[in-house]
Amino acid sequence: MQCPLKTAKEYKIMKLIDGKAVAAEVELETRARIEALKARGITPGLAVVLIGENPASQAYVRNKDRTCAALGMHSRKIELPSSTTQEELLDLVTKLNVDPEIHGILVQSPPPKHIDEHAVTLTIDPRKDVDGFHPVNVAKLAMEDPTAFVPCTPLGCQRLLIAAGIETSGAEVVVVGRSLIVGKPMALLLMAKGKGGDATVTIAHSRTKDLAAVTRRADIVIAAIGRPKALGAEHIKDGAVVIDVGINRVEDSTTKTGYRLVGDVDFDAVASKCKAITPVPGGVGPMTIAMLMANTVTACERLTA
Ligand code: GUN
Repeated sequence: MQCPLKTAKEYKIMKLIDGKAVAAEVELETRARIEALKARGITPGLAVVLIGENPASQAYVRNKDRTCAALGMHSRKIELPSSTTQEELLDLVTKLNVDPEIHGILVQSPPPKHIDEHAVTLTIDPRKDVDGFHPVNVAKLAMEDPTAFVPCTPLGCQRLLIAAGIETSGAEVVVVGRSLIVGKPMALLLMAKGKGGDATVTIAHSRTKDLAAVTRRADIVIAAIGRPKALGAEHIKDGAVVIDVGINRVEDSTTKTGYRLVGDVDFDAVASKCKAITPVPGGVGPMTIAMLMANTVTACERLTA
């Protein structure tokens, strides 16, 4: 009788892509660049603006602040009540645009409903737009202009693929999700010419018909859906590479916090059939922060050149 379970040896074929290790490598490069700036008497500075009390956003902002401090960067965490008006927020951004201590500005998304996020993005000086959300940077990315600020999460995903030795040239990639933060810039990066690019890219989303049929064609699946365990074994072909962007809080009474983090991919159902996969936590998450630090240092280098 055939045993339905994979042997340990077969299971080990799967490669776990270690986001913490690659993020540490990126941070080492960033540290060297910070040292060079400090030798000129310059400290790169990042302003992170959080409006309201979304617990997940609070955790992200805390993490960004801590990483800045660990790398010897100047960090200004600005926490505003959810009653903050659009005008007050735009005023603050306008002041940060001309603040010489600040080289990167990030307004944590999503803001409260009464805030027009698009207007905020348009107000940020594109030279300090380390999120890469301003139309100038979006257009530069589409034009393959190397001076574009590229959104941190997709930039981190691309770096993970390169670090794990995954060939993207000619690969069939399916990006699931069409957001401005991840899906769209991810697709643009992967289809651009050069290292970590040259892929054949499909974007799937909530209106895609027969999602599993589309994702099963992929050599590389990028899951950026925002729904826990949305992709299962039926979505992934044998030997595919899976990058899981999801960071979803699900209730878990056995943990101290009462929740645990799970990805957009059902890791246990998928891992054994993958060539490589990112875990959650410890995959894409640490890379996003590492790329944000790198983008901030780039902004600082350019503004002080
Ligand atoms: N919320 C979730 N991810 C991000 C990000 O990369 N940038 C900002 N500003 N908000 C986010």
